[in-house]
Amino acid sequence: PLLGTYYYKCMINIKRLKTRYNMKAQPEAVHGKNSTLFPTFEQMITFRQHQAKRTALVKIETTDIAKDAEKFCNVYGKVLNTFVYCTKTGKNFLLVEYKTQDDVENLKRISVHMHSTGAVNVITPLLSYKLQHGIPVKHNNSSSTEYNKYLYTSFTVPPFTKIVQTLKQEKNVSRQMVLLYETLKVTDLDVRLRFFTAHQISFYLSKLFTNISVVPFGSSVNGFGQLGCDLDLLCRIENNKAGSKIVWKKLTFLSQRLSLIERNEQKEFLQTISTIIEACIPGMSNIKKVLEARVPILKFFNGNTNMMCDLSCTNMVALYMSELLFIYAELDSRVKPLVCTIRTWARNRNLTKETSGHWITNFSLTLLIIFYLQTKNILPSLCLIESITEENIKSQILKPFSWFKKWKKSIGKGNTENLHELLRGFFEYYSIFDFNTQAICIREGIIKAKKNNSPLYIHNIFDTTLNVSKNVTVVELSRLINNFQSALQILDSSEEDIIIKLIKLEPYASQTEGTFKTIFLNGESHDNKQNENNSDMNDLKCINDEMLTNEGNTNVHE
Ligand code: CTP
Ligand code: MG
Repeated sequence: PLLGTYYYKCMINIKRLKTRYNMKAQPEAVHGKNSTLFPTFEQMITFRQHQAKRTALVKIETTDIAKDAEKFCNVYGKVLNTFVYCTKTGKNFLLVEYKTQDDVENLKRISVHMHSTGAVNVITPLLSYKLQHGIPVKHNNSSSTEYNKYLYTSFTVPPFTKIVQTLKQEKNVSRQMVLLYETLKVTDLDVRLRFFTAHQISFYLSKLFTNISVVPFGSSVNGFGQLGCDLDLLCRIENNKAGSKIVWKKLTFLSQRLSLIERNEQKEFLQTISTIIEACIPGMSNIKKVLEARVPILKFFNGNTNMMCDLSCTNMVALYMSELLFIYAELDSRVKPLVCTIRTWARNRNLTKETSGHWITNFSLTLLIIFYLQTKNILPSLCLIESITEENIKSQILKPFSWFKKWKKSIGKGNTENLHELLRGFFEYYSIFDFNTQAICIREGIIKAKKNNSPLYIHNIFDTTLNVSKNVTVVELSRLINNFQSALQILDSSEEDIIIKLIKLEPYASQTEGTFKTIFLNGESHDNKQNENNSDMNDLKCINDEMLTNEGNTNVHE
């Protein structure tokens, strides 16, 4: 509904925007290589959130009955898109995107709870479909819908051998980098499931709080997400508009004040909602409270949507950061494939890891790449944007891209180096970078003198007094530099299969071959016998009730 507003005229093309996001199995439409139009971050988030609200997830016993389930769902509203996928634990789901939220409400209205006595019921768009008589209707092939069936493996990084096969289709290094990016980027279905997960948690919290929403941030939304990346979630407090117009404030709500600004309050809040997530939300398992970290978080696995989640409180700066990375990712079509290749290289050399520690994170690595691209005049500094807009960065950078055209004009033809050259340039630049004395400042797009003796110093973009890479030790930095240098050697000495040689798995680097980002598995056991034996039940039941049976929250404790 917000399409068309809040957008600079020259970039508006609602029709194309809709095609990009409303497509059926056309992932290319989202990240089209030649795409010059991009929605703002805010629009993308709003669009995906709205899409999640129009979505129902329907568990089906086998993929054979997907068509029947779809037909059934179609009776209650206009279905726009459907996807069939299978989770690690072998559960099958039909994702149904309706035209309106009312359609989802209709579906919820006709669904019934499986347990009636003594059970706590919650109505959500997470449902289970069963055939009345257990036999799928035979569909005429010519008229039947063809599904793209996504197996669990399509949510994880393919085996290295498969990646090699794909890359061998191309000889050209730049093209291979694009292929690698196309192979590893998060898919449209994955993004839908990420927003659905956020919506699901928001829904439960909304039953208790009126102004909290859960929003994805980080690599799920900033354009750099790869298959299997975690889902970073943020509890965002919406400004309380209710009551603002009321002059007579004699009657107010008597409520416990929980501001979520203080770290201790955040910890308490997360502690509380961990219980809700654990006890009430189907599919969530392996909940871990990491409350003593600098930013307290809850970690859990959503078995129904195949993803590991990190939920934190209102750290809005992280959301602004995601928005800024989103903008940088969209500004030039070379950014995403370059970042993807370097991230994959780093992961397979064991330079980045799944857990955080003394090594560089994907986030810091991405900042190194962005800075390098600033030195190449491919990406602008924030100050440059500010000078073009003559407005304050904090308030304007995240608004419409009025500065974008002016900046493009100001750089003329700009840098035309291809991805191969940029990849080599990146490794060369950091092979000889003086990390001893120099710090990187993306805000100004310049090198600065280091303020302290942190081995790697990257100024936080929004608070330049902070170093985002202060966790990196001397040992890890020198390992990184050594690897920059050996990558440069590979690029200079090889003529064939350069990308394959670069991203080749180090023997010590991988847990499972090709699984750069392993999704934590929850070891859920799924005993559906009770469901199967219940022949009287209606076609649709709320999975929510499964918390009282065998699924959903049985294995939350390790
Ligand atoms: N972030 C930040 N400052 C930091 C670390 C993280 O602002 N020092 C924000 C960034 O917006 C980052 C997000 O938190 O994108 C999530 O952090 P993380 O999950 O570590 O990185 P991702 O970019 O999501 O990459 P990955 O695919 O490895 O999860
Ligand atoms: Mg992340």
